[in-house]
Amino acid sequence: MTRAANRRFFVAILAAFACLLVQIGTAAQAPTPQAADKVPLTDDVFKSVQILKGIPVDTFFEAMGMFASAMGNDCTFCHVKDAYFDKTAFAQVTPRMQRARQMLTMMGELNDKYFAGRTRVTCFTCHRGSQSPVSEPDLSIQYGEPYEDPNARDFPVETRVTADQLLDKYIQWAGGAQNAAKLTSYVARGTYEGFDTAFEKRPVEIYAKAPNQQTMIVRLATGASTRVFDGKSGWMAGGDQPVPLLTLTEGNLDRARLEATVAFPAGIKQAFPRWRVGRTAIDGNEVYIVQGMGAAQALANFYFDQAGMLVRLVRWTRTPVGFIPTQVDFADYRDVAGVKVPFDRKVTQTYMQAHVMLENVQPNAAVEAARFAKPAPVAPVTK
Ligand code: HEC
Ligand code: HEC
Repeated sequence: MTRAANRRFFVAILAAFACLLVQIGTAAQAPTPQAADKVPLTDDVFKSVQILKGIPVDTFFEAMGMFASAMGNDCTFCHVKDAYFDKTAFAQVTPRMQRARQMLTMMGELNDKYFAGRTRVTCFTCHRGSQSPVSEPDLSIQYGEPYEDPNARDFPVETRVTADQLLDKYIQWAGGAQNAAKLTSYVARGTYEGFDTAFEKRPVEIYAKAPNQQTMIVRLATGASTRVFDGKSGWMAGGDQPVPLLTLTEGNLDRARLEATVAFPAGIKQAFPRWRVGRTAIDGNEVYIVQGMGAAQALANFYFDQAGMLVRLVRWTRTPVGFIPTQVDFADYRDVAGVKVPFDRKVTQTYMQAHVMLENVQPNAAVEAARFAKPAPVAPVTK
């Protein structure tokens, strides 16, 4: 996407969130503890939803991201342009939304009839970033250099090296098992920028505790936005969020768990019961894919370069319209008490991008348990 398209995309996202705020504003005034715990579903929050009913709000945005990604455009390809400014306009039904609903129905029928109900055919299968899927064979694809998406869920398995070997090599590269075991917590400070800050840098704090607790607080212009994973559950609370307390569900919960786990190199091996290895390239550099697989969790791909450095993590959220990727790129590793910690973390999703750049990391700082407690609900900011 061009910068301009990105920008429009961002504005539309903000509008979408604000739209939610307006609609649930009244209901959210005095959340009871029980109501605050309830996972908000599309039916509770949206007016125009006819097909994507009964799904958690965090998952719904992944589905909308899939739509935008499949079209190679922003949210207002289907939604009215007013949605940039008038938040409630997302609910205004357009011909393209109706077309998209037909497509949803068609997709469901194809998958039910020919693929045993699995979401094998998705919007992206046909559209691939274009409003008009191509029907004629493309000879340049047939005879040209093959392009391979490194973020594949499936790939030819590499048997000459094992996942254990690659994960051990990573721990070695990161400072060795002994040093890794001694780093049990840290407090980090730096900056955060993303679609939700209009790419303006804002202060961020990260509190991390081994094996897998993590809290990130972004100091937005409108107040603190808190994102917690307590080792089991995850929440987001802040004026920027669609509801006073967004409880993370399946895919997004897994993602929070993984991000908290990779904060400490020693923990990755325990993150999945089964692994397999593949090879691919990122930006022309050869990397190994080490894919974690488990019964309860979805797949996750860890990418290691030839030196053993963890350069990327990709995981997918299962939605009614297919698996939607989240990619986290790691760079600028620096030594923290003998362990290499990534100071540069870029999160790319179908509906937003964010970039965290750390400035300092205090190793083994005392972090009170309360840092990982469920955050207090925050009244949405409607500015
Ligand atoms: C390909 C068309 C298309 C694109 C692109 C698209 N949407 Fe939608 N959107 C829909 C359809 C269709 C519905 C209604 C879904 C249903 O009936 O189940 C909808 C519903 C919504 C709603 C519910 C509105 C309400 O209050 O009832 C919101 C919010 C929304 N979309 C936000 C977004 C955002 C944010 C993006 C960009 C990331 C986006 N949409 C991209 C087609 C699209
Ligand atoms: C089996 C292939 C296939 C699948 C799956 C599919 N589409 Fe389409 N879609 C098409 C074709 C073909 C067109 C017609 C394009 C044209 O007229 O040039 C189209 C047109 C559209 C249009 C109208 C575009 C325009 O130019 O106004 C929208 C919106 C759309 N699709 C959304 C979706 C969404 C959202 C999904 C997933 C829920 C989806 N499609 C899944 C094949 C598909």
